[in-house]
Amino acid sequence: MDLELQGKVAIVGGGSKGLGRACAEVLAQEGVKVTICSRTKADLDQAAAEIQDSTGSEVMVFAGDLDKEDTIKKLVASTVARFGRLDIMVNNNGGPPLARAATATEDQWSVAVQRSLLFFARMSREAVPHLKKQGGGRIINILASTVYQPIPNLALSGATRMGVVAFAKSLADEVGRDNIMVNNVCPGSILTDRMLSNVTSRAKELGISVDEALAQRAKETAVGRIGDPKELAYLVGFLASGKASYITGTTILVDGGLVRSVL
Ligand SMILES: NC(=O)c1ccc[n+]([C@@H]2O[C@H](COP(=O)([O-])OP(=O)(O)OC[C@H]3O[C@@H](n4cnc5c(N)ncnc54)[C@H](OP(=O)(O)O)[C@@H]3O)[C@@H](O)[C@H]2O)c1
Repeated sequence: MDLELQGKVAIVGGGSKGLGRACAEVLAQEGVKVTICSRTKADLDQAAAEIQDSTGSEVMVFAGDLDKEDTIKKLVASTVARFGRLDIMVNNNGGPPLARAATATEDQWSVAVQRSLLFFARMSREAVPHLKKQGGGRIINILASTVYQPIPNLALSGATRMGVVAFAKSLADEVGRDNIMVNNVCPGSILTDRMLSNVTSRAKELGISVDEALAQRAKETAVGRIGDPKELAYLVGFLASGKASYITGTTILVDGGLVRSVL
């Protein structure tokens, strides 16, 4: 199947590591020119060099804090200046602070709202005029399984990301006739630095080892294992493609059957 991605241009947030990095790599493999953004320039440079070497696609790096609107404006503008177009947004950022619903502080809420709610609106607002100019595009939001089922210590993840689900549905309505598809992808337990650090703090709370906590997380899934970032990135690659032209406003889990709800 030709994904019709050759020569397209994408921005991938949080692209130096984990899920973002895997998405950038899969898109680059399909001939997409990619800008990756995160806060640590050295990690970005290393990821860009590795992705370029393995795929032959051009990778631009943009170092900045995606919690800030100004970074997002400059990220989009400099990508369009460098590549002359923009087709795909993979809206991915760091996760919200670990917190419980009853005790989350003002500061934790404030970071979570910037990072896990407003970020998605800002990325879309900056990108949509460029996508329209191209005659269409794709917006893919990386959320979390917490929009279906809570996880202890991640109350702010579900609370903010449910807002993104509603936002994406409205946006899909507004831009569907411009051939812009907007979808959400929700990881469950996929092995990355972030997941490992969440599991480590949970292991401490429970007084068990990190290996035991990982085994518990694996056992909770239908497939009996933790996921690999590529297993999410392949779905993102498809949703970014020309073949995903009648899928919009949806939310799709990549969780190995972790979530137990029927719908
Ligand atoms: N892995 C999972 O199983 C899982 C499950 C549910 C939800 N998620 C969500 O998926 C997203 C990606 O998670 P991940 O597991 O891939 O995390 P990760 O391995 O920790 O990678 C996060 C990436 O985002 C960058 N980043 C973090 N904060 C940033 C900021 N404020 N501005 C710019 N870049 C930032 C990091 O680089 P710098 O630190 O250098 O900026 C890094 O490149 C998160 O929102 C996470 O909550 C993941």
